[in-house]
Amino acid sequence: MSKSHFQSTQNKLLSWYEIHGRKDLPWRNTENVYHVYVSEVMLQQTQVKRVLEEYYFQFLEKFPSLFALAQAPLEEVFGMWSGLGYYRRAKNLHASAKLCVDGLPQDLKSLQKLPGVGRYTASAICSFGYAQCVSVVDTNIARVLARYFGEEDVKEAFLWELADGFLNSSNPTSHNLALMDLGAMVCLPKSPTCEVCPLNEACQGSSEPDKYYKTQKKNYENKKLHFGVCVKDGKIAMKRSHKGMYKDMLELPNIESSFYEKNLLGTFAHAVTRYRLEVHVYSLNSTPEDVTWVAYETLHEAGISSMTKKALKLYNGVKISAEGVQN
Ligand code: ADE
Repeated sequence: MSKSHFQSTQNKLLSWYEIHGRKDLPWRNTENVYHVYVSEVMLQQTQVKRVLEEYYFQFLEKFPSLFALAQAPLEEVFGMWSGLGYYRRAKNLHASAKLCVDGLPQDLKSLQKLPGVGRYTASAICSFGYAQCVSVVDTNIARVLARYFGEEDVKEAFLWELADGFLNSSNPTSHNLALMDLGAMVCLPKSPTCEVCPLNEACQGSSEPDKYYKTQKKNYENKKLHFGVCVKDGKIAMKRSHKGMYKDMLELPNIESSFYEKNLLGTFAHAVTRYRLEVHVYSLNSTPEDVTWVAYETLHEAGISSMTKKALKLYNGVKISAEGVQN
């Protein structure tokens, strides 16, 4: 491709972004790098709409700076993350805040030393937070690039090379955001709308998009879980999880199902990461060992998972929300 053709493609991409891009997203309209960092961590496994409507502003109101976040107990951070899932993200964010209360590092290498910050997050902070001339590759951008350059089964390192080569140094931030939005809105995994794509003309994949993008087969794992509910004097018995995806969070005590068959309150299905869970909830007459008693009214502040919320709903039809217990 000639240099002028290359530049005209980059310009078409920017023009498309000007008209169709999600330019109003708040984390794209801030110079506060901490805000960008929080948004990127939240957006790692969660859809834009949920982050926008339920978490981003609330989290920043509670923890307006890295310093405020660093000062807060982890429990409170989990509380603001409650229901968002992948709680290790909250723990890493909190740990990073403690490491750099005076400000986040300003280069890719140092950022990647922070807990939970990989190449994507570091480059997003540099590009969207510091407006540096660095490329960004997330799953959406990876798909756009693989199709555009006609690369099958491409390795991640090579995608970063492609992104570097394609980067528009005159406006790198908007270029990256445009590629991200193109992947999210046009160059979709299934049924991309190539006819409206600004990169259509030179795209190697537009005739056979599926060939250049393989959806990864998801290997789901089925699991049965059994939890017990024990409430005394307005307090509920909870346990601190020491491993797995809910590490460090409060959960209902895990129990041996066979002892409590008669006390079954109900079951529900819950999907989380690669697990397809069948959750059984029992009422307990005796107190399990090593529990932490938590005032039922304050449970929502302690950062419990969506699964635990569902289990508690079975207990007495009470819904636990960010506002507290609702009957
Ligand atoms: N804008 C900046 N980063 C983003 C992300 N990870 N997802 C959606 N929009 C974004």
